[in-house]
Amino acid sequence: MSEPLQRPEWDSATYHRISAPHVEWGKKVLAKLTLRGDETVLDAGCGTGRLTAELLERLPRGRVVALDISENMLRTARDYLQERYWGRVEFVRADLLGLPFQDRFDGIFSTATFHWVLDHDALFQNLHRALRPGGWLCAQCGGGPNLARLMARIESLAVRPPFSVALDEYEKPIFYTDAEAEAERLQRAGFTDIETGLESAPTRLENAAAYIEFVRTVILRHHLERLPNTGLRDLFMSELARQAGLDMPPYELDYWRLNMWARKQG
Ligand SMILES: C[S@@+](CC[C@H](N)C(=O)[O-])C[C@H]1O[C@@H](n2cnc3c(N)ncnc32)[C@H](O)[C@@H]1O
Repeated sequence: MSEPLQRPEWDSATYHRISAPHVEWGKKVLAKLTLRGDETVLDAGCGTGRLTAELLERLPRGRVVALDISENMLRTARDYLQERYWGRVEFVRADLLGLPFQDRFDGIFSTATFHWVLDHDALFQNLHRALRPGGWLCAQCGGGPNLARLMARIESLAVRPPFSVALDEYEKPIFYTDAEAEAERLQRAGFTDIETGLESAPTRLENAAAYIEFVRTVILRHHLERLPNTGLRDLFMSELARQAGLDMPPYELDYWRLNMWARKQG
């Protein structure tokens, strides 16, 4: 058994099924890339591999290293990709803050991952080291006022009984930063040709059940793990869904994405 790097673990089967919003965002990021087709690219935080597959389709003579900290995510990614892309995809379980690579990649692609990493100076130093001279970084993560409405609701529930015993003063392990600060960090890490920007990406779920499944799987793993039993977790989620049902439009998540592009000097 390998050491648990990711706690709480992801429900990767559910993520794989419900991550259509992430796949749509990621496809738009990929569409901006100009590729020769023979590059070696790191997918940094590959999750269950749905976007890794899209990346591999753009690299018919290239290779991808699909990297993630989560054993569950990597297992699902391996099942999804290994046979179809045999010999062109390698799976690595590692923390982005301890990347085991130097001057290895022509490019680094990453979506919906960097906001889970709290130290972006250290993150960009790791990514910069992993790139070959002239290599590019193309990434998108949550940023700016990402999910501000949902986060405010979570904070106001967290200080009230019966949730406050477990959640009062809980600091969420998420880092949403803005475009200017991110550009400065990229520059400090040694990147050039830097472009960063925020875009709004509101995402509507179909009904209360879909909203609850999405939010508990994608956004609230850490909060829910702290609550001591299933009854309290269900109560927490049903209260969030009740409030979201009153919004206009209902069950919409106020997502914002932070895009970034940068290059390691050649
Ligand atoms: C929301 S998923 C995104 C997966 C995929 N890129 C997508 O867009 O569907 C975030 C992924 O980042 C991974 N992750 C979070 N922190 C990480 C870290 N420090 N090092 C490596 N992977 C990390 C998680 O395990 C998870 O698989």
